[in-house]
Amino acid sequence: MSATTERYERFLLGNYAPPALTLVRGEGARVWDDTGRRYLDFCSGIAVNALGHAHPRWVAAVREQAASLAHTSNLFRNEKQGLLAERLAARAGAPGRVFFCNSGAEANEALLKLARLHGRAAAGGAEGVKTRVAVAARAFHGRTFGAMSATPQEKIQRGFRPLLDGVDVAELNDLAGFERVVTGATAAVLVEPIQGEGGLAVATPEFLRGLRELCDRHNALLLFDEVQSGAGRAGGTYFAFQRAGVAADGCSLAKGLGGGFPIGAAWVAEKHAALFTPGSHGTTFGGNPLACAAALAVQDAIDADNLLARVEAQSKPWLAALGRVAAAHPALAREARGVGYLAGIALRVETPPVLAALRERGLLAVAAGDNVVRLLPPLTATAAELDESIEIFDRALGALC
Ligand SMILES: Cc1ncc(COP(=O)(O)O)c(C=O)c1O
Repeated sequence: MSATTERYERFLLGNYAPPALTLVRGEGARVWDDTGRRYLDFCSGIAVNALGHAHPRWVAAVREQAASLAHTSNLFRNEKQGLLAERLAARAGAPGRVFFCNSGAEANEALLKLARLHGRAAAGGAEGVKTRVAVAARAFHGRTFGAMSATPQEKIQRGFRPLLDGVDVAELNDLAGFERVVTGATAAVLVEPIQGEGGLAVATPEFLRGLRELCDRHNALLLFDEVQSGAGRAGGTYFAFQRAGVAADGCSLAKGLGGGFPIGAAWVAEKHAALFTPGSHGTTFGGNPLACAAALAVQDAIDADNLLARVEAQSKPWLAALGRVAAAHPALAREARGVGYLAGIALRVETPPVLAALRERGLLAVAAGDNVVRLLPPLTATAAELDESIEIFDRALGALC
């Protein structure tokens, strides 16, 4: 047992399953473990390393900012937070404003608080009347109390009741189901345009447009959790909801936003922005110049290397190839799923042996939902690296037959 493994076993809380590898270094889409083995990293720190590892632009930006001003708190302005807010406001394609935090769960907490403020305003200032939030079955919105309460999964909620009150659940893509639970007491509908943790279920454009109409009818906010699907991962557009051409009242971001530096954000449409007033929300670290400089470097790389278009173009043949791999191993695989670089294969068997077989052949992937293997390439992945993932997946399933 390595010294690092020993320290993990001795000093870290047991809330994570013991990891299979100790990683020591990364470069682009590759990582190396402590035995010197190299892997194609299509885990990307669970959809975080948008530019892969040690991208020169990102490294330079973090180095330069760390050497100048790392943290200020929101008692003071810093240039980088303003610049990043401007970039995200432009990406949203509609007038709006941004709040910065440090993680996906925190970004969703901000949206849930926005829902409460909207509900109170819509009920003429009365608290506790219009507070309900409708979410999709198998959604994942995070582990803090509000986000966990909006995550209707027994394995996430077990042991932590009582949860936040007033969460209603309907099946993704079942508009009639949402129509049954959304009422005048609903403050917001919160959905992932593509469910990541839930197993790569994709919300259809018709469903999202139907939710927009339903929310308008009941004066409820339509909120998108873009923590995993956003920041370009779906390809073509920066936010996945934009693919459906619907207008959002708010959305959350994290993961790929900072390309490996912890940062989250809640974007709020201009017409609701005044709901947040001084003192109504905050965080010490949110919007610090170091995190914002890292996120700005990701924004610059997305533009300089045309990554949104590249993900869109390269993901199509890759998804088709994943479909062929699934079809070639019908005893083990059901189908390929997903959009852009948020994709994978739904299995007929348990995921751990398949993840191990991929790892043994040099490919890192992640489990999702019920028996889905998820692949999350960096947005910078080359066509050759995508091809390599297909070849390894095919060989791994072949060996398990
Ligand atoms: C869609 C979605 N929302 C929220 C979260 C929570 O983000 P974090 O782990 O940064 O708190 C995740 C994390 O996997 C996610 O996939």
